Amino acid sequence: MNLIKKILVAQAAVLALMAAGAQATTNDDIAKRLEPVGKVCVQGKECEGVGAVASSGGGGAPRSGEEIVGKTCTNCHGTGLLGAPKVGDKAEWGKRAKEQGGLDGLLAKAISGINAMPPKGTCADCSDDELKAAIKHMSGL
Ligand code: HEC
Repeated sequence: MNLIKKILVAQAAVLALMAAGAQATTNDDIAKRLEPVGKVCVQGKECEGVGAVASSGGGGAPRSGEEIVGKTCTNCHGTGLLGAPKVGDKAEWGKRAKEQGGLDGLLAKAISGINAMPPKGTCADCSDDELKAAIKHMSGL
């Protein structure tokens, strides 16, 4: 094989590799372009992206009290930080419920905040129902 031929063979190999690479990228691009812009969710069926919708508060399925407490309220109510009534401390929660006129009174305080307790317990995207479920979960009321 003379030098020119060797160079040509080498170039052909490089071109083949480049072509293979370009093909792969193109397939990826095509796959991306073929992805639907929005996905339709059918009620009763599993649906991608539902978690994101649900956790954004409005519109999605409400989260359980346990979930809200675990995510947010437990930061203070787990240990009684800053004097927060502890999760499961029925006596303390019962006393507070009496003072506020029941569960709805507690809910009102949870929404507005009270002393060191920030409004909505820092769960800004919590609905009233979710907050109520969280209070029920913590207080056993
Ligand atoms: C930054 C800490 C903190 C977080 C987070 C927090 N709380 Fe509290 N919470 C407190 C403190 C402190 C109190 C006691 C306030 C007081 O009575 O002085 C309290 C009291 C309460 C009360 C009783 C109010 C009353 O009138 O006695 C409710 C109800 C309540 N929190 C609900 C919640 C809920 C629901 C969440 C989660 C969504 C939450 N809290 C998250 C600190 C927190």
